[in-house]
Amino acid sequence: MRTENAVAPKTIYLKDYTPAPYQAAYVNLSFNLLPGKTIVTSEVKYAKNPAGVSNDLVLDGEEQNILSVALNGQRFESYTIEDGQMRIVNPGDEFILTIISEIDPAANTALEGLYQSQGNYCTQCEAEGFRRITYYQDRPDVLSVFTVRIEADAKLYPVLLSNGNLQEEGGLPDGRHFRVWHDPFPKPCYLFALVAGDLQRVADTFTTMSGRQVDLHIYVRAGDEKQCGHAMESLKKSMKWDEEVYGREYQLDLFNIVAVSDFNMGAMENTSLNIFNTALVLAHQETATDSDFMSVEGVIAHEYFHNWTGNRVTCRDWFQLSLKEGFTVFRDQEFSADLNSRAVQRIDDVNGLRRLQFPEDGSPLAHSVQPDQFIEISNFYTKTIYEKGSELIRMQHTLLGAQTFRKATDLYFDRYDGHAVTCDDFVQCMADASGRDLSQFFRWYKQAGTPTVQFSSAYDSAKQSYTLTFKQSQPDTPEQTNKQPLHIPVAVGLLDANGKEVLPTQVLELTAREQTFTFTDLPGRPVPSILRGFSAPVKLETDLSDDDLRLLQVHDSDGFNKWEAGQTLALRTIERVMKDPAADISQYVADVGALIAQGLQGIGDKALLARALTLPMIGVIAQHQAVIDPAAIDAARTAIVHQIKRAHKEALAALYDANGNPGSFSITPEAMGRRALQAAVLEILTSTNGTGCAARAKAHYDAADNMTDRVTALASLSDSSQPQRAEVLADFYKRFKDYPLVVDKWFSLQAIANREQIFEDLTMLRNHADFNIKNPNRVRSLYSAFAINNPVKFHDPSGKGYAFLRDVIIELNTINPQIAARMVTPLREWKRYTPALQALMKAALEAIQATPNLSGDVFEIVSKSLNA
Ligand code: TRP
Ligand code: ZN
Repeated sequence: MRTENAVAPKTIYLKDYTPAPYQAAYVNLSFNLLPGKTIVTSEVKYAKNPAGVSNDLVLDGEEQNILSVALNGQRFESYTIEDGQMRIVNPGDEFILTIISEIDPAANTALEGLYQSQGNYCTQCEAEGFRRITYYQDRPDVLSVFTVRIEADAKLYPVLLSNGNLQEEGGLPDGRHFRVWHDPFPKPCYLFALVAGDLQRVADTFTTMSGRQVDLHIYVRAGDEKQCGHAMESLKKSMKWDEEVYGREYQLDLFNIVAVSDFNMGAMENTSLNIFNTALVLAHQETATDSDFMSVEGVIAHEYFHNWTGNRVTCRDWFQLSLKEGFTVFRDQEFSADLNSRAVQRIDDVNGLRRLQFPEDGSPLAHSVQPDQFIEISNFYTKTIYEKGSELIRMQHTLLGAQTFRKATDLYFDRYDGHAVTCDDFVQCMADASGRDLSQFFRWYKQAGTPTVQFSSAYDSAKQSYTLTFKQSQPDTPEQTNKQPLHIPVAVGLLDANGKEVLPTQVLELTAREQTFTFTDLPGRPVPSILRGFSAPVKLETDLSDDDLRLLQVHDSDGFNKWEAGQTLALRTIERVMKDPAADISQYVADVGALIAQGLQGIGDKALLARALTLPMIGVIAQHQAVIDPAAIDAARTAIVHQIKRAHKEALAALYDANGNPGSFSITPEAMGRRALQAAVLEILTSTNGTGCAARAKAHYDAADNMTDRVTALASLSDSSQPQRAEVLADFYKRFKDYPLVVDKWFSLQAIANREQIFEDLTMLRNHADFNIKNPNRVRSLYSAFAINNPVKFHDPSGKGYAFLRDVIIELNTINPQIAARMVTPLREWKRYTPALQALMKAALEAIQATPNLSGDVFEIVSKSLNA
């Protein structure tokens, strides 16, 4: 079998975009799923695109064996194949091209195109996987109407699914059967999907705002049906929310979700046939944590929302990826905020942005939200495209206000339904609907790097006026220097000395490098609450005193800034202890005592208190350090936690007891808040890892009736050298060994341990019978958990942590290049670390770079990391 192999790495530029030379009037695909091979017949009617600039039809195709090509029904051989592309010179204005090819889904470990997961067939076409199925113009601006016939063994593959509506089905000789699916809405090929397998169906319905009934089906493996309830409820809530908040109704009569165990990412929004990682569908109190429940709800919503933001209105090219991803993340974040706690959602989202996107923006891989160039598009499904992209939409929402923003999105859907458009088109709708000039705002899409905003304040008691002066600056990033000032919305409120709000939230708009705003009629010096709700993705440098921050921490009406004030105080304390381990931090410790006391009196929201009692994570603290030394950060952080424990042991124990499990499990925000608070308190109480700590954690485990409490207990034991650690881990494995998603947790909980034996543990886990290099969830559960969530041991001075990661990247390079490239992430920021760590990280990158047959995916990340 002749296969077209990986194409040589080549940079693609946004400025080189030209419209596709041919349009596809229809696409008829036929799949014959046979043992050992799949035959794909594709019949496409092409017509010359009046906007096209070339007469040649150029089709992308990889990893397939062409059996025959026909032009208008006649055998055709005048094509060339080079570098993964079939070229037909000037085939005419209108013609039908039929290509029959053979592919091998069972051998597909890259999990792109058509592959098998636990015997079932499924597809993943975004971004450029369709070319592994058949030769086609694999680009998002070619939209067509797809009809798909699937034929397979009826016993092994009773379920045959594709996009759209079922048109025909029937039996065939030799125990085979077929189905024909038709999707009447033109779509790009990255939204094509096919599933064939032995799956169980969980069914429900939703009635849309215009009264149409939609069938909702979730397909899972036998035995998993009882874990689908939460996903189904989340889907119905998403459909309703999109009608209420955006006026968007679902257009088809059927919406399918299929859960698969082997998946490169979280989930995929294929039209009416979403394919999900099982981790983002299955949820039951026995096997899923609160954070899993939240992720399932958020990702179900995310993929559903893509129906409008991504599918009905799609991307012109992959430089516009954030058009759909940034907007859809914003939509799912707002959905989760509306359904749960807005402040908690914002805190968790901003924490994620700071811990994962800010470092990316400060690394050699920094790129803008609308990049100018890339080598491998699959490397650009980044925190910048998704999370910073979402912040850009949020800022436009803030600048326009909710009502005008809704007018603008109505205009966007009106104008572009059925079209493939750009980020520029989106922002133009915002400008047109509001009458505002957003040309400066668009710089946010083009300039990489996290801006810094510094502010200083002055009060004039004679004039009773108060001024706030802001300075903004933009860091240099690869290929970008001397950046222009941005249009930054800064939400501000003012409190008086007693904590009473004297000026409710106002949005100040920064447009110049330096700008002053004056507030009058203020009888006393106010305390400003700046960047409420984190109104812009910037690093804020505040000149507020500790006392001002303390006032905000207690009184700010903005839940996010209340938390933020406490985090800033914590950061200052950590920095002080890092400079001088003997520094007096009694004031900070007393402040934490006041929070604990409030909790004991039942004052305030438990979920927020849990977050207030949690010190910033090492990754967030690291962003404030000129040179990162994770062990030094950890030492200071741990010393502070120990002091808090020592000072408030009784009160903490009382708070722990007061927030015990009341018995009946639920996932309301209140119940999750209680569990989160108990977990935060347990973390402090068990921080010294002594015998009492282990006994307490073990008791927590033994009393658990849900996965959240079990994981809380295990996390509290993870660094321990007491015998309870092994006992609980063994019990956990025995109970849950038949639940792959829980076995993933078992791997992760050991990989994050900050203890001496970690490298022996890692070797044991790597050689464990349940480890499977071909399953991305399992690989992530061991390697990403270690490299991202165990900063101290990953950055062990021996370099063993880097070597562990290096070896798996080299191994995965040929098995699954997308996953291999993602695994490089923790190494790309090597220049931010101490010289000794830098040298070791660089050596690991160089070893990867020297690997023969390096995939384009890994090549891009490694070479960009090293070249900067
Ligand atoms: N569009 C998907 C989402 O964000 C992302 C995705 C799923 C993806 N699978 C992928 C991207 C594989 C690249 C490769 O919802
Ligand atoms: Zn998405």
